[in-house]
Amino acid sequence: MDMDLDAHLTDAAAAVADASDLDALSVVDTDLLGKKSLLATVRSQLGEMEPDRRKEVGRRVNEVRTGIERLVAQRRAELAAGARAGVLEAERLDLTEFDLGRRLGHRHVVTQTWERLEDLFVGMGYTVAEGPEIEDEWHNFGALNFPPDHPARDMYDTLYVDYGEPQSTLLRTHTSPVQIRVMEEQEPPIYSIMPGRVFRSDTADSTHMPVFHQIEGLVVDRGITFGDLAGTLEAFTTAYFGSGFTSRLRPSYFPFTEPSAEFDIRRPDGSWLELAGCGMVHPNVLASCGLDPEEWSGFAFGFGLDRLALMRHGIDDLRELFRNDHRFLEQF
Ligand code: DAH
Repeated sequence: MDMDLDAHLTDAAAAVADASDLDALSVVDTDLLGKKSLLATVRSQLGEMEPDRRKEVGRRVNEVRTGIERLVAQRRAELAAGARAGVLEAERLDLTEFDLGRRLGHRHVVTQTWERLEDLFVGMGYTVAEGPEIEDEWHNFGALNFPPDHPARDMYDTLYVDYGEPQSTLLRTHTSPVQIRVMEEQEPPIYSIMPGRVFRSDTADSTHMPVFHQIEGLVVDRGITFGDLAGTLEAFTTAYFGSGFTSRLRPSYFPFTEPSAEFDIRRPDGSWLELAGCGMVHPNVLASCGLDPEEWSGFAFGFGLDRLALMRHGIDDLRELFRNDHRFLEQF
């Protein structure tokens, strides 16, 4: 019996080494260690043996079992590594490949939209400002007149960063905090736009992405009125979309503007599309930035930049902008 077990271990080692893939190995594993294996049979016979012999054979069965288990585990690791290498090889991309004339890089359709908007507003006398993507609670909410625990904070599915006090640091949910940074840093008159990337805990679908882009506008000067806001957005509409388009403002609510409005454009086919939020900068926001609301007034607006890109090019799924499929991007 002892000799049988030694021979069995040798045979087992050969069978394990012969298994050429993970499926074959699991068959060998069952043969050698399963309920119908030689080891299981010997073990079931232990009860019939003399005590001394039972002890001796029992010990040997366990040793052989451990030995086989080790061999199987080793072989499994080898085969898994090989399988992984095979997958990597099969999925290999030649990143140096390029096909002159057809695959030359160009700016992404979102970047093109971003730059077009900058050009347009710079042409109207605006400067371009940027702010950090990781923000503090004060700039993203507090200074924008969202009181602590105010339900309006729930409009934004905020992604918090594990840094400092709980909920004190976050990925900015909109570009509006850059308004605050601009007002903190410079004296009015301010005529600025602030394009950038923003983040919300949203599931990706054809109209939502957890990462997207906005472009914020801020004007602060003496004697700015709602009429200036409406006129600016109307001028923007014809400049960006063409003369067949007009716009309208609908009452809305944002904590940082009063009054607040939604900005819609009317397409040549008569349909309306919501493009931005806007309004007159709330006196509390001016005061948070050390500006006297009796002296200064202003307006602000925030566009969904990706939506402008989709609109302009007749793309119907926002996710296409982030998939980075060359066959798609080449078209723009
Ligand atoms: N920050 C708002 C949002 O992300 C958009 C917005 C609304 C920006 C009104 C503004 C504004 O500047 O005045 O939903």
